[in-house]
Amino acid sequence: MGGMAVEVKNLSRSYQRADRTINVLKNLSTTLPSGTFTVLTGPSGAGKSTLLHLLGTLDRPTSGKILYDGQSVLEYSDRDLASFRNTKIGFIFQFHHLLPEFTALENVLMPLWISRESKDARERAKALLMEVGLEKRLDHKPSELSGGEQQRVAVARALIMKPFLLLADEPTGNLDSHSSLEVFTLLRELSQKQGMTCLVATHNEVLAKIATRHITMDDGQIISDSNGLIA
Ligand SMILES: Nc1ncnc2c1ncn2[C@@H]1O[C@H](COP(=O)(O)OP(=O)(O)OP(=O)(O)O)[C@@H](O)[C@H]1O
Ligand SMILES: [Mg+2]
Repeated sequence: MGGMAVEVKNLSRSYQRADRTINVLKNLSTTLPSGTFTVLTGPSGAGKSTLLHLLGTLDRPTSGKILYDGQSVLEYSDRDLASFRNTKIGFIFQFHHLLPEFTALENVLMPLWISRESKDARERAKALLMEVGLEKRLDHKPSELSGGEQQRVAVARALIMKPFLLLADEPTGNLDSHSSLEVFTLLRELSQKQGMTCLVATHNEVLAKIATRHITMDDGQIISDSNGLIA
């Protein structure tokens, strides 16, 4: 496992609304070197989620490009793109989207069932749940877990496919400050250990302060970058 270097070049995303165009991302450029951990902040509406969706290949840019280890995926077929996304990219959202009818262990295994790659899967899922401190909660359903525990299941699920790039959108948004710090620290540790490239969008300034790299967006552009690499 390793990280994927991500290069964002002159990325723009606009929406057409009746008689006007809304420019949500404006010619944004940045680089996420392989294995780095970056926090993304900015006011509501700045374009953070839009950027994460584009990076996650869930949306297409209006112009500009994204290179993953030098490779553009825009011309991939839907099927190849889905396979790229499923095997290379992990997602964590504010609301965990765990499936309520399934246990913690089954939720972590879900991406593997989808990709039908189940060799040693249960052992890996158990090991991940142990890493996130849930070895005693394997058979609990989401409703039988606390918010922080549910989010840790979501972290384990995002990691089961051994992604090269992890995108997290407000992963601690509905947690108290203690659980937020726990989930955040866990993400950072796991990313370091596995050499994963990570981008975490958050409104939590405390988390932003303890990040190695901190990018701030406003109005569709990067307005500061603690790396000094302002695009
Ligand atoms: N489908 C769409 N059509 C038109 N405008 C959109 C669409 N999706 C998003 N926008 C606009 O794009 C802007 C950026 O939205 P985005 O969700 O990326 O912001 P954000 O930085 O993630 O904000 P928050 O911190 O509240 O999550 C917003 O002004 C939003 O209204
Ligand atoms: Mg958002």
